[in-house]
Amino acid sequence: MTLPARAIGTPLDRLDGPEKVTGTARYAFEQPVTNPAYLYPIQSTIAAGRIVDIDDGAAVALPGVLAVLTYRNAARVASTDDPEIAILQTDRVTFRGQFVGAVIAETSEIARHAAALVRFEYRSVPHDVALRFDHPDRYVPEVTNGGFPPETERGDPDGALAGAAIRHEAVYTTPRYHHNPIEPHSTVALWEDGRLTLHVGSQGVHRLRTAIATLFGIDPERIRVISPHVGGAFGSKLHAHADTSLAVLAAMAVPGRPVKLALTRQQMFSQVGYRTPTIQRIQLGAGPDGRLVAVTHVAVQQTARDKEFTEQTATPTRVMYAAPHRRTRHWTVRLDVSTPTIMRAPGETPGMYALESAMDEMATACGQDPVEFRIANEPELDPEQDRPFSSRNLVACLREGARRFGWAGRDPTPRARRRAGWLVGTGVAASVYPVYRLPGSSATIRLGADGRYEVLIGAADMGTGTWTALAQIAADALDAPMDRVTLRIGDTALPEAVAAGGSTGMNAWGSAVVEAARRLKTRLAEEYGGTVPAAGIEASAEMPDNPEMRRFSMYAFGAQFAEVRVHEDTGEIRVPRLLGVFAAGRIINPKTGRSQLLGGMTQGLSMALYERAVVDPRFGHVVNHDLAEYHIATNADVGSVEVHLLPEHDPYVNPMGAKGIGELGIVGTAAAIANAAYHATGVRVRDLPLTLEHFLDGPSGPVSPA
Ligand code: MOS
Repeated sequence: MTLPARAIGTPLDRLDGPEKVTGTARYAFEQPVTNPAYLYPIQSTIAAGRIVDIDDGAAVALPGVLAVLTYRNAARVASTDDPEIAILQTDRVTFRGQFVGAVIAETSEIARHAAALVRFEYRSVPHDVALRFDHPDRYVPEVTNGGFPPETERGDPDGALAGAAIRHEAVYTTPRYHHNPIEPHSTVALWEDGRLTLHVGSQGVHRLRTAIATLFGIDPERIRVISPHVGGAFGSKLHAHADTSLAVLAAMAVPGRPVKLALTRQQMFSQVGYRTPTIQRIQLGAGPDGRLVAVTHVAVQQTARDKEFTEQTATPTRVMYAAPHRRTRHWTVRLDVSTPTIMRAPGETPGMYALESAMDEMATACGQDPVEFRIANEPELDPEQDRPFSSRNLVACLREGARRFGWAGRDPTPRARRRAGWLVGTGVAASVYPVYRLPGSSATIRLGADGRYEVLIGAADMGTGTWTALAQIAADALDAPMDRVTLRIGDTALPEAVAAGGSTGMNAWGSAVVEAARRLKTRLAEEYGGTVPAAGIEASAEMPDNPEMRRFSMYAFGAQFAEVRVHEDTGEIRVPRLLGVFAAGRIINPKTGRSQLLGGMTQGLSMALYERAVVDPRFGHVVNHDLAEYHIATNADVGSVEVHLLPEHDPYVNPMGAKGIGELGIVGTAAAIANAAYHATGVRVRDLPLTLEHFLDGPSGPVSPA
């Protein structure tokens, strides 16, 4: 059953918008606290080895310094199961930039100055920070992020490839990417009377509380995490990182005083995770009719020496196209680097760059139009699970996108269109993102005698629109107008909820809110005869199980189209136009929803053209660790971006009929741009980003009329 809609589907302005644009919305670092102390971290200057000596005399003697923390005096943690956050426990260094100490002082300036006065002596051991496809230490992990098996295989992919009439095999690489939310990772930590209060910009307050409680062996009931507003995250604020544990260690060293820590932009490049670089090999085999018989996708990726994280990069290939013979595999390599983490559409973003580039190359090899080639290889059932999709409108997205973009009549010949010195091309790629439904969300709704509702849930808004969209779901579930509903989120004092991750927030929180509303209405009718008592009433519910998840494969789909211009003499690349058509179930708020997809496509453009962390193999650090040199698309880099949403009715995903949209928009954008760049120039770029030097040597592809 799908919830009938009144508020749902309305393009409401963000309810938190006025607070944000007037600067009154408080982020973590701005929470008013009494007599704060300030924390400044000290980072290792070697990539691997041990600390052999520490001289903190000058720092300790500096007026205003409260303490210098190192592994020698920091509190012992209760669990070292997560080495990323179990810091200052030993003399061991496992990546360059690791927190090896910190200064707590009366001002942030004193803390920073004193941190520079602490002398560390190290004994280095040889390090390795270079990922290679054939790295001798690569291994298949037990599981990837998201709980997926690292390998799948069906039929005889090697035999089918050997016998295929048309074959394509290539290696695609993506660099290390950083989230770079506008709000730097910040923590205010207060340890007082055995209780810990944390103000942290967080994608999930309860998840963070669990991590800190486990790390320090503190009863979770004695920890409160508060996070009403988050200034962007893209995945970097989902898992706990070392900055938060450092702030807690510092708070324990100065009990009763709130300790404030905001990372600098440069510190974030080694502290809050990043998207692993990937080296991916795709093999496609097709019959003479252009129908795929085999597809394989293997990805080699890195993780930290002590902590495993494997991005699920090959998983989208498991659902995209029909082919009887198939294989996917993930290899992980432990290097002397900090731990990678989830970043917007982990898996799908790098994986679909490779697959959708390869599909473009294969369409060319088969002499087929890339839109028609994809449609011809559309599966009827999930090709690895053999079950139906709850809804799958990829073909409709491709057709509608082609119509709106003006794809018809496209001459497939590369390097055939010139305009005033610019080579012009167009490209297409598909988008996909799973519908996840993680258990563990509950909601409480209170109804007062004044007819006002309070909806309580420990959900998060990292800038995505939760404050507004979740209130819209609640209003419809309660049959109430929006102005009678007050939402409270972002606090562990509220009912426990899953983090905002995997585009699952609306699904999980919305389903819990709908269930709590149903119970509240039932209580009101059955126990109170429809009249609210003076004291008010309340009802709570957990997100119910959805058995349909086991009957159907559930995904959102989209099609991305790009126009690219590459300057014939300089290789400069511009993207005057992006157009995306998405089918993602019912859209709760078309305004904030469109912004999500627009932002995703823009981040995909940024990935295609600019973003790349450069690691110096001699020292193991990111050289371009600031926004001056880690380039992110700015307004002048982005041309027209059109977002179109297909009406999609999916009664199986959840009571709202809504799929996640926070990540779908970034998936496929880079491939659409790379494919358009090939069409413009005849140069096939298999290594992101599409910097101008790729185009200066002229066409590498099979067709060159020039
Ligand atoms: Mo998202 S990368 O799952 O926070």
